[in-house]
Amino acid sequence: MWWEKKGHLEVNDENHLAILGRDACALAKEYGTPLYVYDKQRIIDNFSAIRSAFQKCSDNFRIHYAMKANSNPEVLKILCREGAYIDAVSPYEAKIAMDAGYPREKIMFTGTSVSDSDLKMLVDDGIFINIDSLSQIKRLRKFGGEGLNVSLRWNPGMGAGHHSHTITAGKYIKFGIPESKLSSAVDLIKESGFNLVGLHQHIGSGWLADDVGVFLETVDRTIGAAVKIQDKIGHDLEFIDFGGGPGIPYCAKDKEFPLDVYAKGICSKVASSPLRNAQIAVEPGRYIVGDAGVLLLEINTVEDKNVPVIGVNGGFNTLARPSFYGSYHEMVVCNCVASKDEKGFMVAGNLCESGDVFSVNREILRKLPVPSEGDVLAVLDAGAYGYSMASTYNSRPKPREVLVDGKGVRVVREEAW
Ligand SMILES: Cc1ncc(COP(=O)(O)O)c(C=O)c1O
Repeated sequence: MWWEKKGHLEVNDENHLAILGRDACALAKEYGTPLYVYDKQRIIDNFSAIRSAFQKCSDNFRIHYAMKANSNPEVLKILCREGAYIDAVSPYEAKIAMDAGYPREKIMFTGTSVSDSDLKMLVDDGIFINIDSLSQIKRLRKFGGEGLNVSLRWNPGMGAGHHSHTITAGKYIKFGIPESKLSSAVDLIKESGFNLVGLHQHIGSGWLADDVGVFLETVDRTIGAAVKIQDKIGHDLEFIDFGGGPGIPYCAKDKEFPLDVYAKGICSKVASSPLRNAQIAVEPGRYIVGDAGVLLLEINTVEDKNVPVIGVNGGFNTLARPSFYGSYHEMVVCNCVASKDEKGFMVAGNLCESGDVFSVNREILRKLPVPSEGDVLAVLDAGAYGYSMASTYNSRPKPREVLVDGKGVRVVREEAW
């Protein structure tokens, strides 16, 4: 199978799905469904892969884990031990990160449509603020004292992402300060008595090898903008942050993300610019946790309606990506991974919405081994933007989450409303 990863996700001798050597059917039986299962080693391996790629070309970088991808406290603790910093998008995320052991100095907040109360909470908690609008600078004056260090998120004019909803730079985008206003923003920061120490971009989420070229073009633009800012303010910026976005293969035809090309591209561009002393920051989320998580669901209905249907006990309240973005997720019948007896099915969730399907859309049926009611269906690559986008729609609880490691299986969050 294209998605098999030795030691992490495998098909065992019984033709069952195994996560870090644990039979997925047994996990579903013991912990119930819907169930998010996270593989600790895979999280560590993914983080280490990014760190190694940067270590090869820089000795001055930091990796902020974009915790919006998966903010389970145990996941945060694992990455804290690995030396991660945090990218938080709300003051509440910052608090969760601090509770998980991150010192405030390792947390950066980047928000949009940020309210006064958000700003107050951030300043009170001593969290570094990456500013997204001129309005935010003016209102931050009410809460921040002289000399507060801040950075600016700008819009480098082009973006990339797996879906239009996840492109966060370019035209018709709410994020960041456009080039035409960057100079005024810098002036306003100075007038307000704040200290500008960094420039930030985040062009979008879930881009792959084919978009690395676009990304590196934005790296050039951001370096160019940072150099102009340095000239204007008369001192060096401490860091330059290139955001997150590296994608993962969700289907057989997606290419593996070229981490080395990405890291080398960033590092060499910074090294050959007047910003060579600035620290490089990146903010990956999906790459670290995406393929480390699997969602297990019970198949409760197998029936030919006006279309062959597999009904499961979760919906877009459990995993929003298929309905929200039309995202493809590989699905596996856990007790019968490989089978010649396959058929096209609509994989239907349990919410009262026609759009509540796990296939890319209602008309595209998914070829799967013909299952029996009571079997377990695994939705792969559900570790990022899975639980963190889950809701209690239809008054159903959010699912339980478990973490699998070499020692065993642990519940890391109970089912909750
Ligand atoms: C500011 C910022 N940084 C980082 C990320 C992480 O993106 P990804 O999970 O695709 O790496 C996001 C995601 O939307 C973001 O908004």
